[in-house]
Amino acid sequence: MHYLDNAATTWPKPESVYTTADETFRALFSPKRGSHKASRAGGQKLDNARQTLATLFGITNPQRIAFTPGATYALNAATQGYPWQAGDAVVMSAIEHHALSRPIRKLARERGVTFHVVPYTDDVPFDMAAYKTLLETHSTIRMVAVTHASNVIGSILPIHDIFTLAHQHGKTTVLDAAQSAGVLPINVIDDHIDMLAVPGHKGLYGPPGVGMLYVAEGVPLGSFAEGGTGGDSGKHPMTNEQGHINLPDGAEVGTLPLPLMLAMAEGANWVTERGISTIHTHECTLLQHLLDGLNTIEGITIYGHQNVAHKTPVVSFNLAGHHPKELGNTLFDEAGIALRGGFHCAPMAHEAIGSVPHGGTLRASIGATTSQADVDVLISALNRLR
Ligand SMILES: Cc1ncc(COP(=O)(O)O)c(C=O)c1O
Repeated sequence: MHYLDNAATTWPKPESVYTTADETFRALFSPKRGSHKASRAGGQKLDNARQTLATLFGITNPQRIAFTPGATYALNAATQGYPWQAGDAVVMSAIEHHALSRPIRKLARERGVTFHVVPYTDDVPFDMAAYKTLLETHSTIRMVAVTHASNVIGSILPIHDIFTLAHQHGKTTVLDAAQSAGVLPINVIDDHIDMLAVPGHKGLYGPPGVGMLYVAEGVPLGSFAEGGTGGDSGKHPMTNEQGHINLPDGAEVGTLPLPLMLAMAEGANWVTERGISTIHTHECTLLQHLLDGLNTIEGITIYGHQNVAHKTPVVSFNLAGHHPKELGNTLFDEAGIALRGGFHCAPMAHEAIGSVPHGGTLRASIGATTSQADVDVLISALNRLR
């Protein structure tokens, strides 16, 4: 198989990620629960895992990281747990994934929160001038929540500038790093990130079903889900007198999937050892090769800008006369190429780029282990189909 669906989930994972999950599953019990040796050892390993992730994102206190079942859950906790008042507002980009846009639409439906969408214009993913005007004219805005990079077209948002401005106006900032964690450098302090949602199974090369939420000190957050945390077991309420949770316990309810959590941290270790910039250079080279190849094929439309310096290794395209999903199926059946066709859980992005009438796009996404041969096979197969 020529795997070009790394924006959905990276594959294959490093061998050490598989062995960490397997060994943990066999050997260790849930930390924070038992008083026995295996549970205490699990607790120690969990502390190390939090430290690994903290180091990767410039987080000074690892206890501000809660493991979650993924980026989607982390974004739900960040948005639904936030202490909103009716009439408050939130800002998002025009290319959000459902993982952020649906929780925000839920706030509008159920909690009286309005939302503003910063326009996408002429392949520019986030109109900074329009955003600045929004911040200056709407004092009700309390939160700015955006994706770091589009899962459809790979365009990177200028999050440093977006969040610096948000902080100058006293807003809480939330980053959906689903497409960027492990792919681009992220530093919560330098980038002014108050809450950071990270998946384990994409750029960190960990397993599915695990991720993390970082919440900066002093950022208020109520509970999103309630249950046993392993601490304060004798008390009925899970939150403090202000109705806020304590991190990490308050966001880690139920029995924790330690094999997944440690395997995620092992993936982060692997990325750190290889170096984000080394992986990025490899991916950018192949991204340019892919764009060059696609540009030679008559009938191909590429969506979004093509400046690889401002893109993650994700390309959305269509071939005239072919439905993206059907084309994806054909390319897999005929050449073993794994792509993803359709709307990629991000209809806003497809509305922005104008691909809705075509049934979305076909997406190719490159990872750390993608080879030039994988890209060449795709280009030849598309030439044949044309
Ligand atoms: C931009 C974006 N946000 C959020 C998610 C959801 O991540 P998870 O699978 O960890 O819930 C994805 C997954 O495709 C994504 O691409």
